[in-house]
Amino acid sequence: MNTEQQHRERALTDRVLASFDETGDERLRHLMHGLVEHLHDYIREVRLTEQEWHSAIEFLTAVGHVTDDRRQEFILLSDVLGASMQVVTVNNEAVSDATEATVFGPFFIEGSPQVPLGGDTSGGASGQPCWIEGQITDTEGNPVPHARIEVWQADNDGFYDVQLDQDVTTGRAHLFADELGHYSFWALTPTPYPIPHDGPVGRLLEAVGRSPMRASHLHFMVTAEGKRTLVTHIFVHGDELLPHDSVFGVRDSLIKEFAAQAADTPPPGGRDLAGQPWARARFDITLAPAQAP
Ligand code: BEZ
Ligand code: FE
Repeated sequence: MNTEQQHRERALTDRVLASFDETGDERLRHLMHGLVEHLHDYIREVRLTEQEWHSAIEFLTAVGHVTDDRRQEFILLSDVLGASMQVVTVNNEAVSDATEATVFGPFFIEGSPQVPLGGDTSGGASGQPCWIEGQITDTEGNPVPHARIEVWQADNDGFYDVQLDQDVTTGRAHLFADELGHYSFWALTPTPYPIPHDGPVGRLLEAVGRSPMRASHLHFMVTAEGKRTLVTHIFVHGDELLPHDSVFGVRDSLIKEFAAQAADTPPPGGRDLAGQPWARARFDITLAPAQAP
């Protein structure tokens, strides 16, 4: 490219950057500068054509059109671009061996039922019963007493309760760890499911040959006094989708052994499983301090 062309392109970026000079809010100015700098770099680097820019605007318009109170296609777009996961990563700085965070996802709702320690969080959703247990400690190894643990998951058909037509609460609950941080509950062995892919984000995935499937997982949110809130999942060791999770949520440290148990293995707590096989997994959780050093 000739130097006159280079000069014109750089001069335009500089003019746009200067247009934010009077922004009173310093953080906003910083954010707008970064956005313009990177956006212009992108346009120049890929030599974006006018037709491509037009298609991009059309795509974003379609994303807006399918977004409403129940369907948030912009978040889905952020998820499949790895932007949601990068925001999580930036905002949950690595603190010694604190348990890693991952994406929140769109299916958490407030007001889940409480179950006792050892209780059943499935609410009757279909799937293989799975016993989950662990201990919650701080980064010094001290037990964290009475943490609140929220769990939510899809049923065996890959649906969260909020995606069903019926008004039911299944596959979600909360419980409190005991005074030594021990917790246990029944859930379902997680199974894979696709993110909503009948809209523009699904068409984008198809165009680039990517699958909408999420690796099998169980969501956790753990809150405790003086500790950083942990939003995470556990994943199933051996799941072939682990390297292909459509929203890049998998962390190696969150992959757990879900050990298959034969039907004649007595389940914990004397639960009557009507002779069906079950599974068990252990997830010890380390919470970072609320104000990471
Ligand atoms: C989920 O975990 O359920 C989820 C996360 C991101 C996008 C869609 C679904
Ligand atoms: Fe999920």
